[in-house]
Amino acid sequence: MTDTTRTPRHVAIIMDGNGRWAQQHGKERVFGHARGVESVRGAVKAAIRNGVGYLTIYAFSTENWGRPTEEIDALMELFCKSIAAEAPELRRQGVSLHIIGDTQGLSPEVREHIALAEQQTADGDKLVLIVALNYSSRWELTEAARAIAREASAGTLDPDAVTAETVGARLATAAWPDPDLLIRTSGECRLSNFLLWQLAYSELYFTEVLWPDFDEREFDKALDNYRQRDRRFGLIKN
Ligand code: IPE
Ligand code: IPE
Ligand code: MG
Repeated sequence: MTDTTRTPRHVAIIMDGNGRWAQQHGKERVFGHARGVESVRGAVKAAIRNGVGYLTIYAFSTENWGRPTEEIDALMELFCKSIAAEAPELRRQGVSLHIIGDTQGLSPEVREHIALAEQQTADGDKLVLIVALNYSSRWELTEAARAIAREASAGTLDPDAVTAETVGARLATAAWPDPDLLIRTSGECRLSNFLLWQLAYSELYFTEVLWPDFDEREFDKALDNYRQRDRRFGLIKN
């Protein structure tokens, strides 16, 4: 029987392996990204069905700007198309959408699509879906450091009163709890500049499955695995 008391409140996912999936199917990389959107749909459904409250997905990293222009353009087009197409369904499912990342570095078109979808889904109370777009953890932490320095020099913050909470409150994720579970697909075992602060005590789950093949059953499997973990947070437990 499913022990729902041990369902993670917040699941974060590094959606990796779209390019390799496409290659394995003899297609262009962008085909893999398009199939990846279907996996996002499945992950949202599975998160709601399992009673997960927050789902954060890594869609585009600051480092991804180093990819060929054609792939970046195709990805940005896919974001716009998917955000616009999915917003009504997300709203119907009770999902509220939030984008984290350096949105100033995105095109006006992408920013407009984001603003509209965030507005359309603002009332969702079943699941908070956080999409990391042009995101990197070091960017986020640097922004927080800059904000703290500015406040300190303005005299509104006492440097000696700075705590972990002061930092956390200045991150893009300040409004939400830290992830309980991090999933990374495609067999890579690294964080790739994702939520370095927030993942301090998260359980990590790595699977060989490529993101386009990560369906609802795979999501359930990751949750089952999480339910068997013994989270100790540095304490001694029997
Ligand atoms: C993840 O898949 C999606 C993004 C990074 C945008 P990849 O595009 O990294 O696919 P692989 O890792 O090259 O197979
Ligand atoms: C991480 O995947 C970024 C996203 C999933 C958006 P990458 O494919 O860019 O990461 P590396 O290059 O393997 O570390
Ligand atoms: Mg990759």
